[in-house]
Amino acid sequence: MTPLAPSLSIRDEERRQRAGHGGAVVWITGLSGAGKTTLADALQRTLFDLGCQVFALDGDKVRNGLCADLGFSLPERAENIRRIGEVAHLFCQAGQIVIVSAISPMRADRARVRALVPAPQFIEVYCRCPLAVCEARDPKGLYRRARAGQLAEFTGISSPYEAPEAAEVVVDSAAASVDDGVGKVLARLRQMKIIK
Ligand code: PPS
Ligand code: MG
Repeated sequence: MTPLAPSLSIRDEERRQRAGHGGAVVWITGLSGAGKTTLADALQRTLFDLGCQVFALDGDKVRNGLCADLGFSLPERAENIRRIGEVAHLFCQAGQIVIVSAISPMRADRARVRALVPAPQFIEVYCRCPLAVCEARDPKGLYRRARAGQLAEFTGISSPYEAPEAAEVVVDSAAASVDDGVGKVLARLRQMKIIK
């Protein structure tokens, strides 16, 4: 009897067994200065140290390359989120835990990404911080420039931010520590059996 030919296609379960965890998209949304990048960096470091295959995609960085042609009008933001979502989905299919940190201000844009990534693998994280606190922090001086009329379509000032209504995780970055935020996301990843 001729032996069965080994399958050439690689199943999700094979990738999961090799990596020791499943793929996921952790999508961090919030105002500029809310602490998205800080949370993403800390989460990436923690998951990496746990032995996970993890990669962070930050809005600011993606806008230097893949989305360098895009500005901050709502249609351009929608296209920015669409591209980041597609890339994150591909990484997720490759078995990676992808951490996206992007303002992603519009519910409809985030909902489109959610529709792309299978249910338990998409984790929306609302990095919640009052506008006044973000403005007081103003780490890049962008709020000052926006208030002075030197920066158009600035989120929270002259461009909308629609807060999530049912995010899987809410992190109060004005009140809680970065470690608390990391802990909450890890708990969700464990609950969804993405990591052990
Ligand atoms: S979006 O809305 O998701 O498409 O934005 P994103 O790709 O995350 O890029 C946000 C970063 O761009 C800088 N920046 C601005 N943010 C908001 N509004 C305007 N007009 C703007 N102009 C420049 C800013 O550094 C954002 O980074 P974060 O880390 O959020 O502060
Ligand atoms: Mg940032």
